[in-house]
Amino acid sequence: MRYIGNKTKLVPFLLETIGELDLAPGVACDPFAGTASVGRALKTAGWRVHCGDLLAASYAYQVARVELDRTPRYPGALSGGSASRKALSYGAVLRVLEDLPPKAGFVTEHYTPAGEDGREHGRMYFTPENGSAIDAMREKISEWRREELLDRARAQLLLATLIQAADRVANTTGVYASFVKTWQPNATRRIRLKPLRPTVPPASSALGCTAFCGRAETLLGQAGPLDLLYLDPPYNERQYPGYYHLPELLAQGWEPPPELRGKTGLIPDGDLRSDWCRRGRCEAALRSILELADARHVLLSYNDEGLLPRECIEDAFRASGDPDTFRVFTRGYRRYRSDSDGPGRQYRGDAVRERVYYVRKP
Ligand SMILES: C[S@@+](CC[C@H](N)C(=O)[O-])C[C@H]1O[C@@H](n2cnc3c(N)ncnc32)[C@H](O)[C@@H]1O
Repeated sequence: MRYIGNKTKLVPFLLETIGELDLAPGVACDPFAGTASVGRALKTAGWRVHCGDLLAASYAYQVARVELDRTPRYPGALSGGSASRKALSYGAVLRVLEDLPPKAGFVTEHYTPAGEDGREHGRMYFTPENGSAIDAMREKISEWRREELLDRARAQLLLATLIQAADRVANTTGVYASFVKTWQPNATRRIRLKPLRPTVPPASSALGCTAFCGRAETLLGQAGPLDLLYLDPPYNERQYPGYYHLPELLAQGWEPPPELRGKTGLIPDGDLRSDWCRRGRCEAALRSILELADARHVLLSYNDEGLLPRECIEDAFRASGDPDTFRVFTRGYRRYRSDSDGPGRQYRGDAVRERVYYVRKP
């Protein structure tokens, strides 16, 4: 999924950094997991990973990519036959969802021009055809869950698959803070569910990786002692729930229907706003998480255009761990393509330096 701060491209750099520090796999925590790209890479490298994030959409990815050790099978009853039918593969369930008749529901009404509300605000996030397919699939997943035909993890895998598929046909330039006023070619394609691959642990022995939806501080309070804490918090004022409200809506569902705000149909996000996106609060957020962390090694990814100046991170790191072990690893890369200059946002060019800060705790 296109996601601000997605570390997929930086994973090799992170793994090299971990190698250079000579850290052997143990228990790791990735409490700002987003698309779970780092959790997935750590799991592949043999770490037992506890992931977390404020957003429910991230939780779906964490379950799909990190918590699950293999692709599950699904009850035969999902195909509409009797409960005693043979178990279905994940692919077969995706076909059941894709073959549902379209159903104009919440997404069609509010996020396509076919609904009254969508028309009034000119919202063109999805074509009416894709909106009604998304409604049918999302409501069916809720129905299966209500009827206890799906357990939590199987339901989250289907939700992550739907969020990913909807993202591919969303009429946006990568984030949901605005929609494009004409249909882009990707948006006019029919939505297709493509399977996600859970990460098989090395040697196929279960590692006990977990997923979590909530604040980083809460996860750290319950994760127990860690060998590695990897921090990848937001680094600028863009609050994620406003930029990804549609993935979040698909993850949360609409029972009861949320009250929408503004031209883009934002969902309520008071509880999901982050101190890391506030200039006056991000330094305290960093200091308190470092204080809270019961971790042997701490790594922080932070972009050199972020709210926190380099010196401030360095001070906080040196104060929270053994100052002699403090190190900074740097890698240049090209900016995420939906980030562009605009009113109130002037970038210094296309190349950005990503830094990884390290300290060992006593
Ligand atoms: C830079 S992104 C992480 C990207 C991720 N590493 C990836 O590769 O996709 C930051 C994430 O932190 C989450 N977040 C912000 N504040 C948080 C908090 N206080 N606790 C937990 N997650 C938070 C956001 O929802 C967002 O997904």
